[in-house]
Amino acid sequence: CGIVGYIGLPEKTSTHSALDVLLEGLRRLEYRGYDSAGVATVADGVIEGRKKSGKLANLVAEIEAAPLREASLGIGHTRWATHGGPTDQNAHPHFGDQGRLAVIHNGIIENFAELKQKLLAAGEVFESETDTEVAAKLIGRYYRNAGDLTEAMRLASNELEGAFTLLAVHVDQPDRVVASRRNSPLVVGLGEGENFLGSDVSGFIDFTREAVELEQDQIVTITTDDVAIINFDGTPAEGKRFHIDWDASAAEKGGYDSFMEKEINEQPKAVEDTLLGRTDASGQLTLDELRIDPEELKNTSKIIVLACGTAAYAGHVAKYAIEHWCRIPVEVELAHEFRYRDPIIDENTLVVSISQSGETMDTLMAVRYAKEQGARTLSICNTNGSTIPRESDAVLYLHAGPEIAVASTKAFLAMIAASYLLGLYLAQLRGQLFREEIKDILADLHKIPAKIQKILDSSEDIKALARAMKDTPSVLFLGRHVGFPVALEGALKLKELAYIHAEGFAAGELKHGPIALIEQDQPVFVVVPSPRGRDSLHSKVVSNIQEVRARGAKTITVAEAGDDAVREFSETVFFVPETSPLLMPLLTTVPLQIFACALAAEKGYDVDQPRNLAKSVTVE
Ligand code: G6P
Repeated sequence: CGIVGYIGLPEKTSTHSALDVLLEGLRRLEYRGYDSAGVATVADGVIEGRKKSGKLANLVAEIEAAPLREASLGIGHTRWATHGGPTDQNAHPHFGDQGRLAVIHNGIIENFAELKQKLLAAGEVFESETDTEVAAKLIGRYYRNAGDLTEAMRLASNELEGAFTLLAVHVDQPDRVVASRRNSPLVVGLGEGENFLGSDVSGFIDFTREAVELEQDQIVTITTDDVAIINFDGTPAEGKRFHIDWDASAAEKGGYDSFMEKEINEQPKAVEDTLLGRTDASGQLTLDELRIDPEELKNTSKIIVLACGTAAYAGHVAKYAIEHWCRIPVEVELAHEFRYRDPIIDENTLVVSISQSGETMDTLMAVRYAKEQGARTLSICNTNGSTIPRESDAVLYLHAGPEIAVASTKAFLAMIAASYLLGLYLAQLRGQLFREEIKDILADLHKIPAKIQKILDSSEDIKALARAMKDTPSVLFLGRHVGFPVALEGALKLKELAYIHAEGFAAGELKHGPIALIEQDQPVFVVVPSPRGRDSLHSKVVSNIQEVRARGAKTITVAEAGDDAVREFSETVFFVPETSPLLMPLLTTVPLQIFACALAAEKGYDVDQPRNLAKSVTVE
């Protein structure tokens, strides 16, 4: 969920209207969830709330129909539903202390059922099914005793279990917004005569570039001229101040119909920026920013890659490259499965997490678990200063720029490029590859951005095919070797964006079951490996294409330029420029992204905010 809080001077001289700040912040945070949205403000001794299911536009319409008083403080929320469906009632804010206190929340309160029983027994009446309302009622009861919102928030927070960021305002203390944080993101934005709260800096990026980071288990009280932080035990604490050097215009659509289209088109630059400045004049890789002792890295005996969703597919690509170059065994595991299988970890295990946001709770919890077990942790991440890199021993940032569309595109390619850099760096440290070999691979990598551009420049045919296939009920994707995770990603994109049944398979696995799905005219995408790759891999995939065609499938292939062998077995071929076989995912993924995006747009769907999803899932 996205969270924003604001307080400015009541006699608005140089500060803003609370509602403007909240709505602008929510617009930028909507990528964190868009099942419903709501705001609460305090003005003239009255607390008011508006909330609405559906996207932010619904809330805006609601406020237009029933305007709020001019206010200089308030809180706002955009929701990704966990407890209770995405209805108006379940939308935040929720109220406590007989409607005198409003609360918004991100995360999951794990002991909410037990607390709710107690509160019901004490006479509280609930209007929603959410865990948030339990927190609101609890804070409300403490307020009645303590008469102070900060203290009420502190006492309540100590009773809550799970992960949460809570923001509260009370009608009797119209000079403050109070927030609490455990295992869930929260940052403070600093202004002149005004202060801000956000689940990340995009919540207030339009208003200030100065921010303060909180630790776990802390409470912050913002007033117009102060930011006071305490720990859950009441002792005072200091936050860490930082400057945000983020170009707000990078978060605008810049002429494209959607963020997703823009981000697909930014991929040459994203990969270029990931590679930038990471080699010295002699062609050696210099990943100094990793902040981990190279000697320690050298001793790595096993790598475990942890990630979710698209990032996990980048991890699968990384496995092929790192094992090949470094001769270190690599396991790739979905982060949410990892700690439940009693994994084997020691101090020579390097746990590499991959995450665009750096906030995915499943990944964060897996990293913490790995640390507890004694592993060294390295984060490959796109979001500077986010939680996962902060808590990891080492970090390799992607520098791909903000990714706004929920379905990941440019971050995926940048993750793959960064994993290649990590693999080459380890190979260099361990003397596993010759200097010249590393130089050659790096040279190939540096040619990738121009090749992606070539695919983008000739994407009209893919878009036309997507439009023609808009009514297809199911699409299969096949790949082998590094093409296998690309097939999985191609299928995921189509599911996420176009709500079409899509499955990715290892092409060799087909004959062991999935081939039963093939019937007349079933569309099958095949990611064909380079004919210059490992022995007979290419010809095996060509055989797999023939197997599905013989059973009536319509085959659409993505192959390397010059690979004429596939032409006769393909209904349609999309050629990508030549590169070394291990680097092919950086090219073969692109047509599949364009296809999914164009097909979903043709169906009239919102490609940036597909139903039921959120970009950053901060619950487990
Ligand atoms: C969510 C998004 C996916 C994303 C995954 C991991 O489920 O909808 O697009 O791949 O989280 O996100 P991360 O920020 O950790 O890369």
